[in-house]
Amino acid sequence: MTVQIVLCESVDHVGARAADIIEARVRQGPAVLGLATGGSPSSTYQELIRRHREEQLSFGQVTGFTLDEYAGLPKEHEQSYYSTIRREFVDHVDLPLERLFTPQGDAADLVAEAERYDAAIATAGGVDIQILGIGANGHIGFNEPTSSLASRTRVKTLAGATRTDNARFFPDGDVPRLCLTQGLGTIREAKLAVLVAMGENKAAAVQAMVEGPVSANCPASVLQLHRRAVILLDPAAASRLSMLEYYREAQEFNDQLGQTPTRPWLQEPALQQG
Ligand code: PGA
Repeated sequence: MTVQIVLCESVDHVGARAADIIEARVRQGPAVLGLATGGSPSSTYQELIRRHREEQLSFGQVTGFTLDEYAGLPKEHEQSYYSTIRREFVDHVDLPLERLFTPQGDAADLVAEAERYDAAIATAGGVDIQILGIGANGHIGFNEPTSSLASRTRVKTLAGATRTDNARFFPDGDVPRLCLTQGLGTIREAKLAVLVAMGENKAAAVQAMVEGPVSANCPASVLQLHRRAVILLDPAAASRLSMLEYYREAQEFNDQLGQTPTRPWLQEPALQQG
Protein backbone atom coordinates (compact mmCIF):
# COMPACT_ATOMS: atom_id res chain seq x y z
CA MET A 1 0.00 0.00 0.00
CA THR A 2 1.50 3.30 -0.97
CA VAL A 3 0.38 6.87 -1.27
CA GLN A 4 2.66 9.08 -3.30
CA ILE A 5 2.23 12.84 -3.27
CA VAL A 6 3.53 14.62 -6.36
CA LEU A 7 3.88 18.38 -6.03
CA CYS A 8 3.47 20.03 -9.42
CA GLU A 9 4.16 23.58 -10.52
CA SER A 10 0.91 24.25 -12.37
CA VAL A 11 -2.34 22.78 -13.65
CA ASP A 12 -0.62 21.90 -16.93
CA HIS A 13 2.21 20.24 -15.05
CA VAL A 14 -0.35 18.11 -13.16
CA GLY A 15 -1.82 17.10 -16.52
CA ALA A 16 1.58 16.28 -17.98
CA ARG A 17 2.63 14.11 -15.02
CA ALA A 18 -0.70 12.26 -15.04
CA ALA A 19 -0.42 11.78 -18.80
CA ASP A 20 3.10 10.36 -18.32
CA ILE A 21 1.72 7.67 -16.01
CA ILE A 22 -1.18 6.84 -18.31
CA GLU A 23 0.94 6.86 -21.46
CA ALA A 24 3.49 4.46 -20.01
CA ARG A 25 0.73 1.95 -19.17
CA VAL A 26 -1.17 2.37 -22.46
CA ARG A 27 1.99 1.79 -24.48
CA GLN A 28 2.47 -1.56 -22.72
CA GLY A 29 -0.63 -3.10 -24.37
CA PRO A 30 -4.33 -3.55 -23.65
CA ALA A 31 -5.36 -1.39 -20.70
CA VAL A 32 -8.52 -0.60 -18.78
CA LEU A 33 -8.80 3.05 -17.80
CA GLY A 34 -11.24 4.43 -15.25
CA LEU A 35 -12.31 7.80 -16.60
CA ALA A 36 -13.31 10.70 -14.37
CA THR A 37 -15.31 13.63 -15.68
CA GLY A 38 -15.27 17.16 -14.27
CA GLY A 39 -12.82 20.01 -14.55
CA SER A 40 -9.91 18.40 -12.71
CA PRO A 41 -8.81 15.84 -15.32
CA SER A 42 -9.18 18.34 -18.15
CA SER A 43 -5.45 19.16 -18.41
CA THR A 44 -4.70 15.41 -18.33
CA TYR A 45 -7.07 14.69 -21.20
CA GLN A 46 -5.79 17.68 -23.16
CA GLU A 47 -2.25 16.39 -22.86
CA LEU A 48 -3.24 12.84 -23.81
CA ILE A 49 -5.08 14.19 -26.87
CA ARG A 50 -1.98 16.18 -27.85
CA ARG A 51 0.21 13.11 -27.52
CA HIS A 52 -2.29 11.14 -29.61
CA ARG A 53 -2.14 13.76 -32.36
CA GLU A 54 1.54 14.57 -32.24
CA GLU A 55 3.28 11.54 -30.75
CA GLN A 56 1.30 8.55 -32.07
CA LEU A 57 -0.07 7.63 -28.67
CA SER A 58 -2.84 5.16 -29.50
CA PHE A 59 -5.84 4.28 -27.35
CA GLY A 60 -6.87 1.56 -29.80
CA GLN A 61 -6.37 -1.13 -27.16
CA VAL A 62 -7.96 0.78 -24.30
CA THR A 63 -11.25 0.02 -22.60
CA GLY A 64 -12.81 2.89 -20.64
CA PHE A 65 -15.23 2.85 -17.72
CA THR A 66 -16.51 6.15 -16.37
CA LEU A 67 -16.77 6.61 -12.63
CA ASP A 68 -20.37 7.67 -12.54
CA GLU A 69 -23.47 8.88 -14.37
CA TYR A 70 -26.52 10.97 -13.57
CA ALA A 71 -29.68 8.96 -13.03
CA GLY A 72 -32.49 9.79 -15.40
CA LEU A 73 -30.36 11.15 -18.23
CA PRO A 74 -30.20 9.16 -21.47
CA LYS A 75 -26.73 8.67 -22.94
CA GLU A 76 -27.46 11.23 -25.65
CA HIS A 77 -28.24 14.02 -23.15
CA GLU A 78 -25.65 16.76 -23.48
CA GLN A 79 -24.83 16.62 -19.77
CA SER A 80 -24.73 12.84 -19.39
CA TYR A 81 -21.26 11.70 -18.43
CA TYR A 82 -21.27 9.49 -21.52
CA SER A 83 -21.60 12.63 -23.70
CA THR A 84 -19.20 14.55 -21.48
CA ILE A 85 -16.36 12.04 -21.61
CA ARG A 86 -16.78 11.76 -25.38
CA ARG A 87 -16.64 15.54 -25.76
CA GLU A 88 -13.73 15.99 -23.36
CA PHE A 89 -11.59 13.05 -24.40
CA VAL A 90 -12.80 9.99 -26.25
CA ASP A 91 -13.95 11.65 -29.49
CA HIS A 92 -10.49 13.19 -29.89
CA VAL A 93 -8.54 9.92 -29.70
CA ASP A 94 -8.89 6.44 -31.21
CA LEU A 95 -10.47 4.69 -28.22
CA PRO A 96 -13.13 2.44 -29.83
CA LEU A 97 -16.61 3.60 -28.83
CA GLU A 98 -17.76 0.02 -28.39
CA ARG A 99 -15.28 -0.21 -25.51
CA LEU A 100 -16.43 2.94 -23.74
CA PHE A 101 -18.74 2.08 -20.85
CA THR A 102 -20.86 4.22 -18.56
CA PRO A 103 -23.61 3.21 -16.18
CA GLN A 104 -26.94 3.48 -18.01
CA GLY A 105 -28.55 6.46 -16.31
CA ASP A 106 -32.00 5.85 -17.76
CA ALA A 107 -32.14 2.12 -16.98
CA ALA A 108 -35.57 1.01 -15.79
CA ASP A 109 -34.00 -0.80 -12.83
CA LEU A 110 -31.16 1.36 -11.52
CA VAL A 111 -30.25 -1.03 -8.72
CA ALA A 112 -29.76 -3.89 -11.17
CA GLU A 113 -27.87 -1.58 -13.53
CA ALA A 114 -25.43 -0.64 -10.76
CA GLU A 115 -24.75 -4.29 -10.03
CA ARG A 116 -24.32 -5.05 -13.73
CA TYR A 117 -21.81 -2.19 -14.13
CA ASP A 118 -19.75 -3.32 -11.16
CA ALA A 119 -19.65 -6.85 -12.59
CA ALA A 120 -18.72 -5.54 -16.07
CA ILE A 121 -15.62 -3.86 -14.63
CA ALA A 122 -14.55 -7.13 -13.02
CA THR A 123 -15.24 -9.07 -16.23
CA ALA A 124 -12.99 -6.66 -18.13
CA GLY A 125 -10.19 -7.63 -15.76
CA GLY A 126 -10.53 -4.67 -13.41
CA VAL A 127 -9.30 -1.12 -13.83
CA ASP A 128 -5.57 -0.67 -14.46
CA ILE A 129 -5.50 3.08 -13.86
CA GLN A 130 -8.37 4.95 -12.25
CA ILE A 131 -8.22 8.69 -12.93
CA LEU A 132 -9.87 10.68 -10.14
CA GLY A 133 -10.72 14.24 -9.20
CA ILE A 134 -11.80 15.23 -5.70
CA GLY A 135 -14.83 17.30 -4.75
CA ALA A 136 -14.49 20.26 -2.40
CA ASN A 137 -16.43 18.12 0.09
CA GLY A 138 -13.95 15.24 -0.27
CA HIS A 139 -16.04 13.07 -2.57
CA ILE A 140 -14.59 10.86 -5.27
CA GLY A 141 -16.89 9.73 -8.01
CA PHE A 142 -20.26 10.65 -6.54
CA ASN A 143 -19.44 9.05 -3.21
CA GLU A 144 -20.58 11.86 -0.97
CA PRO A 145 -19.46 12.22 2.67
CA THR A 146 -20.71 9.34 4.83
CA SER A 147 -20.47 6.88 1.92
CA SER A 148 -19.49 3.42 3.04
CA LEU A 149 -15.77 2.88 2.53
CA ALA A 150 -16.63 -0.62 1.26
CA SER A 151 -19.42 0.47 -1.09
CA ARG A 152 -19.94 -1.00 -4.54
CA THR A 153 -21.39 0.68 -7.62
CA ARG A 154 -24.82 1.85 -6.54
CA VAL A 155 -27.53 4.49 -6.67
CA LYS A 156 -26.70 7.58 -4.59
CA THR A 157 -28.43 10.82 -3.72
CA LEU A 158 -26.32 13.81 -4.70
CA ALA A 159 -25.32 16.22 -1.95
CA GLY A 160 -26.80 19.69 -2.17
CA ALA A 161 -23.25 21.10 -2.42
CA THR A 162 -22.51 18.89 -5.42
CA ARG A 163 -25.74 19.88 -7.15
CA THR A 164 -24.87 23.54 -6.57
CA ASP A 165 -21.30 22.99 -7.89
CA ASN A 166 -22.66 21.32 -11.02
CA ALA A 167 -25.59 23.66 -11.63
CA ARG A 168 -23.39 25.64 -14.04
CA PHE A 169 -23.73 22.80 -16.53
CA PHE A 170 -27.54 22.77 -16.39
CA PRO A 171 -28.85 26.07 -17.75
CA ASP A 172 -32.38 25.25 -16.58
CA GLY A 173 -31.01 24.59 -13.07
CA ASP A 174 -32.51 21.11 -13.19
CA VAL A 175 -29.58 19.09 -11.80
CA PRO A 176 -30.54 15.44 -11.28
CA ARG A 177 -30.95 14.36 -7.67
CA LEU A 178 -29.75 10.80 -8.10
CA CYS A 179 -26.76 9.19 -9.74
CA LEU A 180 -25.05 5.88 -10.27
CA THR A 181 -21.49 5.84 -9.02
CA GLN A 182 -18.71 3.33 -8.66
CA GLY A 183 -18.41 2.65 -4.96
CA LEU A 184 -15.39 3.32 -2.80
CA GLY A 185 -14.80 -0.43 -2.55
CA THR A 186 -14.95 -0.63 -6.36
CA ILE A 187 -12.50 2.25 -6.79
CA ARG A 188 -10.20 0.66 -4.24
CA GLU A 189 -9.79 -2.36 -6.49
CA ALA A 190 -8.18 -0.36 -9.30
CA LYS A 191 -4.56 -1.41 -9.66
CA LEU A 192 -3.43 2.20 -9.59
CA ALA A 193 -5.36 5.34 -8.62
CA VAL A 194 -4.20 8.67 -10.03
CA LEU A 195 -5.93 11.60 -8.36
CA VAL A 196 -5.46 15.10 -9.75
CA ALA A 197 -6.41 18.22 -7.80
CA MET A 198 -5.88 21.87 -8.40
CA GLY A 199 -7.05 25.15 -6.92
CA GLU A 200 -7.47 26.53 -3.44
CA ASN A 201 -11.06 25.33 -3.11
CA LYS A 202 -9.70 21.76 -3.05
CA ALA A 203 -6.96 22.42 -0.48
CA ALA A 204 -8.98 21.48 2.61
CA ALA A 205 -10.32 18.29 1.00
CA VAL A 206 -6.80 17.34 -0.12
CA GLN A 207 -5.47 17.86 3.39
CA ALA A 208 -8.23 15.71 4.87
CA MET A 209 -7.70 13.01 2.23
CA VAL A 210 -3.95 12.72 2.78
CA GLU A 211 -3.43 13.66 6.42
CA GLY A 212 -6.79 13.19 8.10
CA PRO A 213 -8.17 9.96 9.47
CA VAL A 214 -9.58 7.39 7.07
CA SER A 215 -13.17 8.38 7.41
CA ALA A 216 -16.46 8.25 5.57
CA ASN A 217 -16.62 12.00 6.24
CA CYS A 218 -13.88 12.40 3.63
CA PRO A 219 -14.54 9.60 1.12
CA ALA A 220 -11.26 10.28 -0.73
CA SER A 221 -9.38 9.28 2.44
CA VAL A 222 -10.07 5.68 1.39
CA LEU A 223 -7.08 6.16 -0.92
CA GLN A 224 -4.87 5.83 2.18
CA LEU A 225 -5.82 2.14 1.99
CA HIS A 226 -5.24 1.87 -1.74
CA ARG A 227 -2.59 -0.51 -3.01
CA ARG A 228 -1.07 2.30 -5.07
CA ALA A 229 -2.33 5.85 -5.15
CA VAL A 230 -0.54 8.76 -6.80
CA ILE A 231 -1.85 12.20 -5.88
CA LEU A 232 -0.83 15.05 -8.18
CA LEU A 233 -1.36 18.55 -6.83
CA ASP A 234 -0.85 22.08 -8.04
CA PRO A 235 0.57 24.53 -5.45
CA ALA A 236 -2.86 25.85 -4.42
CA ALA A 237 -4.33 22.39 -3.84
CA ALA A 238 -1.24 21.41 -1.82
CA SER A 239 -1.20 24.62 0.21
CA ARG A 240 -2.85 23.27 3.36
CA LEU A 241 -0.76 20.12 3.73
CA SER A 242 1.01 20.22 7.08
CA MET A 243 3.78 17.85 5.88
CA LEU A 244 4.44 19.75 2.67
CA GLU A 245 8.20 20.01 3.22
CA TYR A 246 8.45 16.29 3.87
CA TYR A 247 6.62 15.48 0.63
CA ARG A 248 8.92 17.85 -1.23
CA GLU A 249 12.04 16.23 0.21
CA ALA A 250 10.77 12.73 -0.58
CA GLN A 251 9.95 13.78 -4.12
CA GLU A 252 13.39 15.31 -4.64
CA PHE A 253 15.05 12.20 -3.29
CA ASN A 254 12.99 9.92 -5.53
CA ASP A 255 13.70 12.13 -8.54
CA GLN A 256 17.44 11.94 -7.80
CA LEU A 257 17.16 8.16 -7.86
CA GLY A 258 15.35 8.34 -11.17
CA GLN A 259 12.29 6.74 -9.62
CA THR A 260 9.70 9.16 -10.84
CA PRO A 261 5.96 8.70 -10.62
CA THR A 262 5.92 8.21 -14.36
CA ARG A 263 6.65 4.54 -13.80
CA PRO A 264 5.11 3.77 -10.42
CA TRP A 265 4.00 0.25 -11.28
CA LEU A 266 7.42 -0.70 -12.60
CA GLN A 267 9.44 0.25 -9.57
CA GLU A 268 8.70 0.73 -5.95
CA PRO A 269 9.75 4.20 -4.92
CA ALA A 270 12.67 4.20 -2.49
CA LEU A 271 10.84 6.44 -0.13
CA GLN A 272 7.12 6.53 0.30
CA GLN A 273 5.35 9.23 2.11
CA GLY A 274 2.53 7.13 3.36
P1 PGA B 1 -14.20 19.09 -10.61
O1 PGA B 1 -15.06 18.06 -9.78
O2 PGA B 1 -13.09 18.31 -11.21
O3 PGA B 1 -15.13 19.62 -11.65
O4 PGA B 1 -13.73 20.11 -9.65
C1 PGA B 1 -14.39 17.07 -9.07
C2 PGA B 1 -15.41 16.22 -8.42
O5 PGA B 1 -16.48 16.74 -8.06
O6 PGA B 1 -15.17 15.02 -8.28
